Amino acid sequence: MTGADVVTPLREELERRFRTVTRELELAGRTIRLFMPASAEELIDEADFDRDERLPYWADLWPSARVLALAMHSHAIEGKRILEIGAGLALASLVIHRRAGDVTVTDWHPLTEAFLHENLLANGLGPLPYQPGNWALDDASGASGLGRFDLIIGSDVLYERQQPAQLARFIDQHASAGAEIIIVDPDRGNRSAFCQAMATLGYGLHMQAASRTLESGEAYKGRFLTFTR
Ligand SMILES: C[S@@+](CC[C@H](N)C(=O)[O-])C[C@H]1O[C@@H](n2cnc3c(N)ncnc32)[C@H](O)[C@@H]1O
Repeated sequence: MTGADVVTPLREELERRFRTVTRELELAGRTIRLFMPASAEELIDEADFDRDERLPYWADLWPSARVLALAMHSHAIEGKRILEIGAGLALASLVIHRRAGDVTVTDWHPLTEAFLHENLLANGLGPLPYQPGNWALDDASGASGLGRFDLIIGSDVLYERQQPAQLARFIDQHASAGAEIIIVDPDRGNRSAFCQAMATLGYGLHMQAASRTLESGEAYKGRFLTFTR
């Protein structure tokens, strides 16, 4: 039996609670299996939304995640402590982990940890560090224990008006001196506010258009935002 075939009690519980699917994605000539909810819409929780407008966006695989994951197939990662923010299904982290990179996965939605656990098994990978990592919380004192990272990555994390300021602060509180930050953004309206917030914190920006076609052949429009200080 391979890791992909293991049915854990957690997986059975997730399959009882949600309609799920397993997708096979081809990235840089390699297959990644993603066990995920069949429909993010079915996961909408009114209590979550009333509390902090939280929607289950984590449960979709967004096109920008594929762009970031493909880039992480060849990006220099050796010796770096890496953080994925707003990871959702954490595709880029799975790629980095498969390359034996030192990556920590964060998201604010508790179910992301459960699906990460199952996707590590589905791809025959060992455990990965995971933390909630809510950008809305000021971590100036370092109380979260998350620490600082040499490379911070994220995809499609700028879709709400409060996110540019929150995310810039979160990144700054977890970036080591000389860190590189790579955000793949599908041309959302909050991009310039985020770049401005990062500039105010002293980060320089290099912006580069992503390929207009995903590996799957679907059209894509977006950019790599790379910040350094
Ligand atoms: C559009 S989804 C993108 C998910 C994934 N990066 C991708 O590209 O497929 C945005 C992600 O940001 C997470 N997120 C939103 N607000 C957050 C916050 N305040 N703190 C941490 N994560 C947050 C969501 O749970 C979700 O996983």
